[in-house]
Amino acid sequence: MNDPEKYAPVGVFDSGVGGLTVVREIMNLLPDEQVVYFGDTARVPYGSKSGETVTKFSRQDVKFLLGMHVKAVVAACNTASAVALDEIEKEISVPIIGVVRPGARAAAEATRKKKVGVIATEATIHSEIYTKYIQGIDSDTKVIGKACPLFVPLVEEGLLNDPVTDEIARRYLGELKGTGIDTLILGCTHYPLLKDTIARTMGEDVTLVNPAYETARSLKKLLTEKGLLNSSDTIAKHRFFVSDSVDKFLSFASAILPYEITSAERINIEEY
Ligand code: DGL
Repeated sequence: MNDPEKYAPVGVFDSGVGGLTVVREIMNLLPDEQVVYFGDTARVPYGSKSGETVTKFSRQDVKFLLGMHVKAVVAACNTASAVALDEIEKEISVPIIGVVRPGARAAAEATRKKKVGVIATEATIHSEIYTKYIQGIDSDTKVIGKACPLFVPLVEEGLLNDPVTDEIARRYLGELKGTGIDTLILGCTHYPLLKDTIARTMGEDVTLVNPAYETARSLKKLLTEKGLLNSSDTIAKHRFFVSDSVDKFLSFASAILPYEITSAERINIEEY
């Protein structure tokens, strides 16, 4: 790798806005890295679609990012990471990481009782990918999954601290509480935004694992190992792309990221 490649951006994609929880962690941990983000806001959600469709969409998202000359790709979407990553990794020459493996690793390390819960979209739970990775690390660990599809629209409606969200959380998480898990993976990009509600509902004996944070750490490790860390001290200029309305994206992005996002560009992802 020659030096200019160090200064290339990191490409991050998600089905919509949720991947910004991963971008937030990347900005915290790797402030010198430039991020090019693509949110497929026209085709969200991925979590209720078939594996075939999620793979097709993810492949287009990655193709767009590669066209932006990124040095590495982060699949900042649990569903895409669960369903499409293995296949896409074989097809491209830049390194790609997802959010599932880092989250699974952290949970396997955190559990004392060897009982881990995972909450995620239907597609991620159905893939059983977290179970596969965790049991690949420790085959004695039991993994219990629960799809929580209503959490995504609740977050997108801004109901982060609301009695309606508390009630839905009680219903979804009630059955997990009775299983004796001591660690719970927030296995969907939106769920870290509901951390307070989920922590309150599960109680203080349950450790919450945030794959977004773990992914930023994995990205740092990957870039360091490959000699790709950006060592320049010029201020990173991030770029944001979406496949639907820019305005809606800007207000959501500004609420999540540490600074106000004033511009994003709309692209036609079907062309990729
Ligand atoms: N980004 C998705 C995930 O992390 C949640 C939203 C969707 O279903 O597309 O699984």
